[in-house]
Amino acid sequence: MNAKKVIIDCDPGIDDSLALMLAVASPEFDIIGITIVCGNVPTGLGAENALKILQQAQRLDIPVYLGATQPLKREYVSAQDTHGMDGLGESELPNVTTVRPHVGAIGFLNHTLQANSDVTVIALGPLTNIALALQQEPAAWQHVSEFVSMGGSFHSPGNCSPVAEYNYWCDPDAAQQVYAKMPVPIKMIGLDVTRQIVLTPSLLAYAQRVNPVVGGFIAQITKFYFDFHWQQERVIGCVINDPLAVAYALDPSLCQGFTSYTTVVTDGIALGQSISDTANFWHQPNNSLILTEVAAFRFWQLFLNRVINAQEPELSDILKQLHYTEAQG
Ligand code: BDR
Ligand code: CA
Repeated sequence: MNAKKVIIDCDPGIDDSLALMLAVASPEFDIIGITIVCGNVPTGLGAENALKILQQAQRLDIPVYLGATQPLKREYVSAQDTHGMDGLGESELPNVTTVRPHVGAIGFLNHTLQANSDVTVIALGPLTNIALALQQEPAAWQHVSEFVSMGGSFHSPGNCSPVAEYNYWCDPDAAQQVYAKMPVPIKMIGLDVTRQIVLTPSLLAYAQRVNPVVGGFIAQITKFYFDFHWQQERVIGCVINDPLAVAYALDPSLCQGFTSYTTVVTDGIALGQSISDTANFWHQPNNSLILTEVAAFRFWQLFLNRVINAQEPELSDILKQLHYTEAQG
């Protein structure tokens, strides 16, 4: 099997960390680099967190690159209220000292894309790095094989305003530019699908039973996130957005949707809202695939198998016990 070359652009972040754990445990991926953008936490802290996850997975061979430290035009607003001041749920894990992040995420992205024509880019944070890379060397992006973005929302309410999702709200100018300039259709994993992926206390308990070390680590970093979801949204558990984008890149049959022209609002009360012109008012060519349906049963099968090494048939039996059904997908 030829592994898919992948670059993950992210802002770890609790759910970014779970996404990295899924990615590094997946033999279908050859992760050639991780680029960090300011988002959930400032860029330097995000890079430290990526290294912590790589150390935990014994994959410190994957290089981590520091990217943008502020959005293109707007003042930077982190999501440390959601992810903790350290970005990993106040877990206060020690920094990795044996390996340090590299500078130059934008150069790394463009150089890699210029030199290869089979690289998938998965963006799990605000799109600042991607917009800057596209501005600096648009020709490099003619080579990108696939671009997946966790962000935006079609019909689900926002999580930063009634209409805006955090990644696009944090840097709406970048998001707007990326939708305008990306030469391949953007596969948008928005809140419509990620809100259907809730790490519940039962799933977490199962993870801890099966794999006390990794399950315990997930419990440690998600406790803060669980508390935030209860206080903010009256959700028992936590919505883990970013792993779904990684899972979709592994198995596109996990989500279904429609193609459309999409843009992002850059000012006013709808700042950061993604708008998909489903009725073709604007007569613009389609630039996106908007995913609106997700096979939750199969997502959890994949995630729990890869991340905690849960095995069949017990894994499917437990999911059914927790009221997931194969029929729901
Ligand atoms: C997105 O915002 C961040 O807080 C998460 O990491 C995810 O990428 C969800 O809106
Ligand atoms: Ca993220």
